[in-house]
Amino acid sequence: MTAKAWKAVLSAAEAAKSRSIAGLFEDDTRAERYSLVASDMLFDYSKTALDDTARETLIQLAHAAGVEDARRSMFTGEKINASENRAALHTALRNLNGPPVFVDGVDVMPDLRETFERMKAFAKMVRDGRIAGQGGAITDVINIGIGGSDLGPAMAVRALTPYHDGPRCHFVSNVDGADLADTLSNLAPETTLVIVSSKTFTTIETMTNASSVQKWMARSVTDPSAQFAAVSTAKERTAAFGIPTERVFGFADWVGGRYSIWGPIGLSLMIAIGAERFGEFLEGGARMDAHFATTALDRNMPAMLALIGIWHHQGMGYPTRAVLPYEHRLSRLPAYLQQLEMESNGKSVGVDGEALSHGGGPIVWGEPGTNGQHAFFQLLHQGNQIVPCEFLIASRGHEPELTRHHELLQANCLAQSEALMCGRDLEETLSLFPGHEMTDDDIEKQARQRVFPGNRPSVTLAYPKLTPRILGQIIALYEHRVFVEGVILGLNSFDQWGVELGKEIAKSLFPVFEEREPTRAQNGSTRLLASFLTKQSEDI
Ligand code: F6P
Repeated sequence: MTAKAWKAVLSAAEAAKSRSIAGLFEDDTRAERYSLVASDMLFDYSKTALDDTARETLIQLAHAAGVEDARRSMFTGEKINASENRAALHTALRNLNGPPVFVDGVDVMPDLRETFERMKAFAKMVRDGRIAGQGGAITDVINIGIGGSDLGPAMAVRALTPYHDGPRCHFVSNVDGADLADTLSNLAPETTLVIVSSKTFTTIETMTNASSVQKWMARSVTDPSAQFAAVSTAKERTAAFGIPTERVFGFADWVGGRYSIWGPIGLSLMIAIGAERFGEFLEGGARMDAHFATTALDRNMPAMLALIGIWHHQGMGYPTRAVLPYEHRLSRLPAYLQQLEMESNGKSVGVDGEALSHGGGPIVWGEPGTNGQHAFFQLLHQGNQIVPCEFLIASRGHEPELTRHHELLQANCLAQSEALMCGRDLEETLSLFPGHEMTDDDIEKQARQRVFPGNRPSVTLAYPKLTPRILGQIIALYEHRVFVEGVILGLNSFDQWGVELGKEIAKSLFPVFEEREPTRAQNGSTRLLASFLTKQSEDI
């Protein structure tokens, strides 16, 4: 059934390859007809080559792939993560007042509520000084974690800086000692709280960093364990590490690492902004869930965002997608989305064990505007590769005294999407060289280099202001987008087998470095590099 639907999408895309996006605006209702509003956010996808036929083929593809059924299965706790035999219930974490949700016949909501209350009490006591370090009130919190146990809170704490009224937060993820050393260099162990965040509590980077911080603290704090907390599904391991049970915040294995910011992995965020703001963040996520769960696909923001992604990657053949937040505080959003999208959908084999007939998700990358404009936007405008762009922009900033900055930001954001679409042809470019003292040949040569081909697609997400609620909506929007894309492509968005092999080889290579025996490396190139690296470290 999907084969026919795919065929229709691909032939619509073929027809669109020669279509002028700007030309589609001859229909002066286009912007309204190719945009939608959900929960205060406007999603404009009119600057794409989609026409009514193409859009309809995409929606039919989503129907044929069973998106609506899959959506229901996710929300009701079915084990949709088949390769790990788990549900994917991150939506339950942000809907604490919602109806019962059953996994293996057990309602998971009471446990979630209890953990949330414990998090709230803990965060409150850290913020008001009742939980203190040996040297007094906690001034700094270090979250030690990596991947989903780092990117979510690190991104959100930065995004919500205007609401940050708790202790300073730091995030150490890299096993590179530089990350830890640079963070610790400005901190006082006596007033620092360490949260070790790891779903499995086995991740080598996190456990190595956690042990080193423990030693750092033990040099000046009598009982370091009193200044440690843990977030994990593995309670025996947190106990073995010496973290008291009352400081351990658990979550179930049906919360995927990259979907985990809504629960205890968000503890550092809750300490930073307070439980009330954190609650607003959850409400934002839940609002997007309600929209996603109940809205017809053609008016459904996550579904349309996913379908446009499929249109660009599978249909038009564009290999990458740029995420461009015109919101400086979303500077970690591209990195967050790289994990969310590429760890979820960067796959080539489907749930049926067969090679995916239409491939997996695209490469996702990006950087905040306007900085990106002065770096890689050259390629976006004039390079050979077409990169569909996703712009994010707020109506208002948080700095009333700097509204001029925000107006410039908005003008730049909209200018870029217009320039990408409209471009500037040779004729117009030539007209910019009036009466120049150059030969016609030279003028043309110069002008050709200044031509903008245009017809480059983009979508824009506009929202009122980057509040906790809006951030929750944005993250949930992207989560559901990834889900819909995964369902349509026929893959499991909730496992990540592709990260395992490198971890295994690193484990076997570690003794090569620890014992300085490069000849034990299996492969010629690895041996050469290991010899060079071990020798250099001896020489210096
Ligand atoms: O290596 C990938 C991964 O398993 C991610 O999926 C996860 O977010 C990250 O590592 C951290 O895992 P953990 O929370 O178990 O330390």
